[in-house]
Amino acid sequence: VNPINPNIKSLIFVSAYGELSIIEVRSILKENISKIEKICDSTYEIQLSNPSPKELKQISSCHKIGCIIYRNQDKIFSDKLVEELEYSKKKNFSISLYCSGDPERKYRMLTEGLLDFCRHNHIRKLRLIRPSRGHEMRAEDIASREIFDLMFVERGPETIVGFVTHVHDFRDFHYRIAKRPQHDQTIEMSARLARTLVNIASLQRGETLLDPFCGSGTILGEAILLGINCIGIDLNPRKVSESKRYLDWIASQYSRTKVGSYKLIVGDARSLKKILPDKKVDAIVTEPILLPPYTRTPSYNEAQESLQRSRSIYSDAIKAMTWVLKDKGRLVIVTPEIRVKGGHTLTLELDQEIKKSGLTPILSETGKEYFRLDSQSTRWVNRNVYIMKKI
Ligand SMILES: C[S@@+](CC[C@H](N)C(=O)[O-])C[C@H]1O[C@@H](n2cnc3c(N)ncnc32)[C@H](O)[C@@H]1O
Repeated sequence: VNPINPNIKSLIFVSAYGELSIIEVRSILKENISKIEKICDSTYEIQLSNPSPKELKQISSCHKIGCIIYRNQDKIFSDKLVEELEYSKKKNFSISLYCSGDPERKYRMLTEGLLDFCRHNHIRKLRLIRPSRGHEMRAEDIASREIFDLMFVERGPETIVGFVTHVHDFRDFHYRIAKRPQHDQTIEMSARLARTLVNIASLQRGETLLDPFCGSGTILGEAILLGINCIGIDLNPRKVSESKRYLDWIASQYSRTKVGSYKLIVGDARSLKKILPDKKVDAIVTEPILLPPYTRTPSYNEAQESLQRSRSIYSDAIKAMTWVLKDKGRLVIVTPEIRVKGGHTLTLELDQEIKKSGLTPILSETGKEYFRLDSQSTRWVNRNVYIMKKI
């Protein structure tokens, strides 16, 4: 969106998937990160030892990434802000506020204060664009309306001030959702989430990724676009043909990208030893879920029974997947969380399976073995993500 200042090594990162986004950031930027610190809600400060815009572009689960211009405790508006506003060639600017507690009132004060500040400093050419709702300009609007978005992030008594340099590539993700040859809304994951999970698997071009519950091939599609070779397996032959059709479509639409190869097999994910007897894969990314399609809120007992059936398939498949995974390879697996009558939730937890398999989970900040995603898969089912490594 805006050129990144090569001397600025501190970034503001607004995440789409909370802590899971931070795992994606760590998987992409690796040793380049010298520090990551949560500021508030979904906003983090990331310090890099060597900023590299090319790598930042690969992060799919950011809403926005911004450069930090300055941080201040007593004066929110500084002369450095005048420089940046004048330096920006854009006519439209906006304000996004990240804070805890009464954002509406703070946002009003911030807007009035900034307009006064601009008048006082004779910055006249700029036009303030207000977000259609809330106190944050949407990434889509920033890119499509060419807006210079100023970010104000509160950390205790301090305000961190920056401007947006990157937004996620929503046009490309949207294209794959809108134009793919067919849809199966009951099971399909978004291309963006699939890309995040593939990035977390930490593969290089030419390495092999397996999705043994591939459905319509969304995860495989994101992987081949990164030059990763893929194997997709599904019990249902119709799903295997849908995957094939989707991957052929990707290969034809992105003919200028050197896409990875793909092989699709009808088979049972619990029998990987038979299906791939001589093959070891570099990573596995998959979303089995395996619940009946609910048409109303399930009762506690209904959900419990479904989870039990699903658990037994997860359990056998994890054994098989551990066998086929190379040492140091990652297994990224999505599990369901069901909302039941009375407002409770039931979660498919894999702690026993992890212990038995000998895989090492990447833990969340609160010590949990999975990362909770708020993006729903259906009205009653949410996703959790386990990330495990074969040591
Ligand atoms: C939730 S869907 C995967 C959706 C996929 N992520 C997508 O975006 O299209 C799970 C898939 O697992 C398949 N499946 C169920 N049991 C299986 C088994 N034992 N082995 C392999 N595939 C299985 C189903 O046919 C279904 O297509």
